[in-house]
Amino acid sequence: MKTELIAETWDALGSAQREFVEAFYRRFFERYPDYRPLFPLELNPRHLEKMVQTMALVANLSDDRSSIAPHMHKVGQAHKAYGLTARDFDNFKRTFLELLGERLGRKWSAEAEKAWNDAFDAVLVPLMREGLGRQ
Ligand code: HEM
Repeated sequence: MKTELIAETWDALGSAQREFVEAFYRRFFERYPDYRPLFPLELNPRHLEKMVQTMALVANLSDDRSSIAPHMHKVGQAHKAYGLTARDFDNFKRTFLELLGERLGRKWSAEAEKAWNDAFDAVLVPLMREGLGRQ
């Protein structure tokens, strides 16, 4: 996995990371209105901040996934109430990558997309699901 491309593209957002996360949720809810009622009417700033922090951790992902495992297990546990399926995670990933590509313009590439895609499929989602499986 080309982890340096993940770091480069996330860092390229710079101070727009927080706004990116807000825009991500707007698009996520637009595309999948059924998810909207799971979230509070007004998104909690702490939730948005945690999302930015989580993505920063992912951006610093090395080939050693153990560095982010404890955090991702906790994030997974925080999703227990929602009964998420593989399709839900996939919807999240697709929306996230689509918007990241739009925001980065020429800084985005098929290689960067693959790196993020692999990070979701091989690391992020499996770790969250491990967390979901715990009491
Ligand atoms: C890889 C995919 C995902 C990541 C990285 C992620 C990340 C996060 C993070 C970091 C939080 C904050 C947790 C906390 O407060 O401790 C959160 C909360 C939440 N997530 Fe996710 N999430 C993902 C997928 C999903 C999906 C697919 C759904 C539902 C469709 C979802 C629904 C929620 C909800 C409802 C909250 C609570 C919001 C609130 O009450 O303020 N998440 N997520």
